[in-house]
Amino acid sequence: MSNRTFTMIKPDAVRNGHSGAILDMIIKAGFKIKALKMLKLSAEKAGEFYAVHAARPFYGELVEFMSSGPIYAAILEKDNAVADFRKLIGATDPAKADEGTIRKLYAASVGENAVHGSDSDENAAIEGSFMFSVLEQF
Ligand code: RTP
Ligand code: MG
Repeated sequence: MSNRTFTMIKPDAVRNGHSGAILDMIIKAGFKIKALKMLKLSAEKAGEFYAVHAARPFYGELVEFMSSGPIYAAILEKDNAVADFRKLIGATDPAKADEGTIRKLYAASVGENAVHGSDSDENAAIEGSFMFSVLEQF
């Protein structure tokens, strides 16, 4: 079990002014920030990041959405980081997310769902190094 996960505050949440509140929830839940930056993904980079979903019907929409505005990317540290973070963000579809989760509070739809959270230790490491150089990770 690794103690790191990777997250993005997605363009909808940044546009709607929720970045500060979401970062505050993350920190108050006990995650330490080990890397953080604001950036805008090109469609090409967004497509590469979500390449695992390339065959899914929502892929085009997902790539367009994820490259539609600035995001925050971060590497987070905590015991049991991947599973605990998925619990904090809630279900992919905010209508199914538990009360008090980030997606329940700040997401509008399954497509525009405020935050990303890695789904495994392996993907957390791959995604973290996709977005951050070694000089940007602490
Ligand atoms: P994420 O990777 O962003 O943390 O989300 P997740 O694990 O909860 O969900 P995943 O199945 O990995 O899907 C990735 C993202 O694709 C968009 N999506 N749209 N329109 C749809 O039916 C649909 N399904 C998924 C969402 O933005 C989802 O977070
Ligand atoms: Mg996922």
